Amino acid sequence: MDASQSVDLLIYNIKELLTLVDGYTTSAKDNEKKLGIIEDGAVAIKNGRIVKVGKSDEVTSSVKIGKNTYQIDASKKVVLPGFVDPHTHLVFAGTREKEFLLRQQGVPESKIMKEENTGIISTVRWTRKATYEELLEETKKHLTSIADWGTTTVEVKSGYGLNLEEEIKMLKIVKDLKEHTLINFKSTLLAAHIIPPEYNMRDEKYVDLVVEDIIPIIAKNDLANFNDVWCEKGKFTREQAKRILHVGKKFGLKPKIHADELSNCGGAEVAAEVSTISADHLIYASEEGLKKMKEAGVIGVLLPTVSFSLGKEDYAPYSKMKEIGLTVALGTDFNPGTSFCPSMPFVITLAVTKLKMSVEDAIIASTINAAKAIDMDKEVGTIEEGKRANINILSIHHYEEIPYRIAENYVETVISNGEIVKGG
Ligand code: NIG
Ligand code: FE
Repeated sequence: MDASQSVDLLIYNIKELLTLVDGYTTSAKDNEKKLGIIEDGAVAIKNGRIVKVGKSDEVTSSVKIGKNTYQIDASKKVVLPGFVDPHTHLVFAGTREKEFLLRQQGVPESKIMKEENTGIISTVRWTRKATYEELLEETKKHLTSIADWGTTTVEVKSGYGLNLEEEIKMLKIVKDLKEHTLINFKSTLLAAHIIPPEYNMRDEKYVDLVVEDIIPIIAKNDLANFNDVWCEKGKFTREQAKRILHVGKKFGLKPKIHADELSNCGGAEVAAEVSTISADHLIYASEEGLKKMKEAGVIGVLLPTVSFSLGKEDYAPYSKMKEIGLTVALGTDFNPGTSFCPSMPFVITLAVTKLKMSVEDAIIASTINAAKAIDMDKEVGTIEEGKRANINILSIHHYEEIPYRIAENYVETVISNGEIVKGG
């Protein structure tokens, strides 16, 4: 940075600054150490990047503060990195509250799926029918709502198009938003979400379409970073998943997988074998599979709002994962069927109450680990000099209040790429 130029934004007097960088604090308790806490801290921002982090007096005396520097006094506040949501299906048309309500009443899944306007298939129908502009408008609303809860980086999947043209439509919307908003995006091709109705009983033919047409064209047009498959009984088999993920890899799309969400189908093992960047859900993953994931360096992405929204008692075996030493991230899985949830703070509440994560681990899982799960950790996920300025200011006194204040939106100011997107 040119020291003669004043900074654009200064946040100072921060009661508790969670940098998520190890080793900043010597006075903190062991758990707090992992969060890299600076008491009475400050952050200076210039050209969308963090240029100085430290104690308030140290930062204010070492950067130039001019008449154009926007200053925020964050005394009595907690400041932490913008949340990273590493798993969403943000682009979709229509809503499916009917099936949510029937499920809570204990109506069996087979019966619910026979009802009109239920299931992924309905979302596919509505999404295909929506024009590009209609879908873009809907997605912008969801984006506003995730940013309102402090998410500044998001992974978005396709998967409600299920043919070349419609998958392109979904991914172009993500590209459009990436280019025209302040939020950070990664996009994922999920052509292998379900077998579309027109390929009923011809699933191998659909897999051929995915590997021969959809993947190559999406990759050549630079429309996705990742390639994902739902590996599950009645969705895609282990063999199909491997084929789809290997072909994606050849075309430069990093593999991801929806694994062991509804049953133990060996998804964690597939993740390890293919060396996916992440394996997501893992509610029914085997211990063996989790160990293999650890060896292969696969990150586990846990999505507890899915169990919550489906009214299930089963949550991913986090304590086993912790024992094994697996890197774990958290996400919302925002989608119209199993998790209409834009809020990472609510995900943290469930991580603490249902997965039995410590609050510190849940914060790490929602920031730097989530950034790792989408290959963004060099750019976001910590408050560190050189990184993109993605920062949340919370109107609470101590980070331990994050899961405790259930569904209260204490996210007061959200900064993404150095710009204020909420509050100020
Ligand atoms: O992540 N697992 C697959 N897909 C979604 C559900 C999508 C939907 O129901 O529309 C999930 O849970
Ligand atoms: Fe999902």
